[in-house]
Amino acid sequence: MNVENIAYACLTRFVENGEGSREALHWVDTDLSEQIYSFEYFDRESSRVAAILKQLGIVPGDTVSIFIPRSPILISAFFGVQKAMGISCILFGTLGEEGLLDRLSNSNAKIVITRKSLLRKITAIKDKLPALQQILTIDHDDHQSDSVLSLRKLMTETDPIFDYPRWVDAETPAFLQYTSGSTGKPKGALHVHGALGDMRQSFRDIMQLEADDLYWCTADPAWITGIVYGILAPFGTGARQVQYSGTYNADNWLKTLETLKVNIWYTAPTALRMLMQEDENKFTQHDFSSLKRMYSVGEPLNPEIYHWGRKVFKVEIYDTWWQSETGSMMIGNHPPMTVKPGSMGKPRAGVEAFICNDDMQLQPDGKQGLLCLRKGWGSMFRTYFHNEAAYSDKFKNSIYITGDLAYRDEEGYFWYVSRADDVINTAGHLVGPFEVESALLEIEEIVDVAVIGADDPLLHKRIIAFVKLRNDQTWSKELELKCRIYVSNKVSTTAIPAEFHVIDSVPKNQSGKILRRVLKAIYEGKDPGDTSTME
Ligand code: WT7
Repeated sequence: MNVENIAYACLTRFVENGEGSREALHWVDTDLSEQIYSFEYFDRESSRVAAILKQLGIVPGDTVSIFIPRSPILISAFFGVQKAMGISCILFGTLGEEGLLDRLSNSNAKIVITRKSLLRKITAIKDKLPALQQILTIDHDDHQSDSVLSLRKLMTETDPIFDYPRWVDAETPAFLQYTSGSTGKPKGALHVHGALGDMRQSFRDIMQLEADDLYWCTADPAWITGIVYGILAPFGTGARQVQYSGTYNADNWLKTLETLKVNIWYTAPTALRMLMQEDENKFTQHDFSSLKRMYSVGEPLNPEIYHWGRKVFKVEIYDTWWQSETGSMMIGNHPPMTVKPGSMGKPRAGVEAFICNDDMQLQPDGKQGLLCLRKGWGSMFRTYFHNEAAYSDKFKNSIYITGDLAYRDEEGYFWYVSRADDVINTAGHLVGPFEVESALLEIEEIVDVAVIGADDPLLHKRIIAFVKLRNDQTWSKELELKCRIYVSNKVSTTAIPAEFHVIDSVPKNQSGKILRRVLKAIYEGKDPGDTSTME
């Protein structure tokens, strides 16, 4: 089956329909200066990138890695790779050498697009990357050597014309998304051009933008959310969107929401928790009346944050669930559904989600088990790049095992419990760390928390809580007692942590997921391993 090339559907089609001048991106810099970019702008710039890539020897199926921070040039580069029929792989600038090496070598990247400040990391590992032919930098005025060329200079010398196939086979590889499993090296989930249909449809079904709505997805494009719902879905549906150039900044974020009159906001619980730590009056100083709805993804939207968010932003918050592997939102909340705080919502139209036990038998409502999806949705990852074994491991016949534990209630709402491998079995009782964390987060002295299981000679596992205290708080016997009683009352006596440890920050990856394995390793006095995706 043929589909539109992603670059055609997201850019060129607007130009051909006479809508090229439409606003595609409202860019806000860290100094709050603004710049508006049109569909035509990105169509032109990506053609230049594609022509350069082809000139440098990129042929269909080759990988081009994009190792630069969120920026308009990142978007042009991504679509340039699509026009050249290559496979794009956007990587976090925060990656360390080892993390970078794993990804660049697994993806067989022939070209890396980077910038001065990150160049050092690549040159340090270049010798271990036989496939790497060329490095392009976005911020050098001149070429540095035969292998380090200035993309900026090449762009000024290249015409914005590139003839590329408008229609491609739906299975044509488009981009790789690396994701860290609970074991082994990071795996590159491969997505295809045919995935765009699901990305657009899910965006329409769940975000439900109206004609002139302004949309803002705070996710970095090196994260699946940033590429799918920060670039592909909004461009592919011709949405108006804003992007803020930097990372989290409470004042700039709140100002952006207010002054640009953002209508639909897609963010993450960690961001909300960070905002929750800010002075309350910051929120009353701003007018968020343009905001219609908020959406959340990536980690459980604890009732605590949900209620806080609703209170300060005065809108509904819709949680959504999906993964790097699923390519689009699978389960979610959206109007006119009634939100049950703490629930991920229901499978969207066309998605079949269910709960199985370890023997892959369907579980009744209310019973916790493996969250599974029926194989075959369009945006499904097609493999883990060069790791077919890890891919097959995720499937039992036609069923995809997500790696999460969840349950479904009688009304069809799904409730996240934890990753399948993080559930703590204490004295035969299964305890989800999320439940304990949710409870502890409601304690006012605590701003962040992570719970893990540790080996225990009597109980099999005992529960360990790592807590980050509010700045003005210190740990005390009284506070510990308060926490125990609270968990006992809120969750169950079996869920009471055996130990509490105060820490300065909870280790999380770029998408805000708690890195329990790091805590476990630290707790057991072992090497935490690859921490390259940590904040
Ligand atoms: C894992 C996937 C696609 C964006 C998410 C990051 C966890 C995701 C939720 C949610 C609880 C969630 C799951 C999932 N997760 N959304 N709404 N509630 N947990 O993608 O890095 O591939 O991680 O994130 O554990 O399996 P990812």
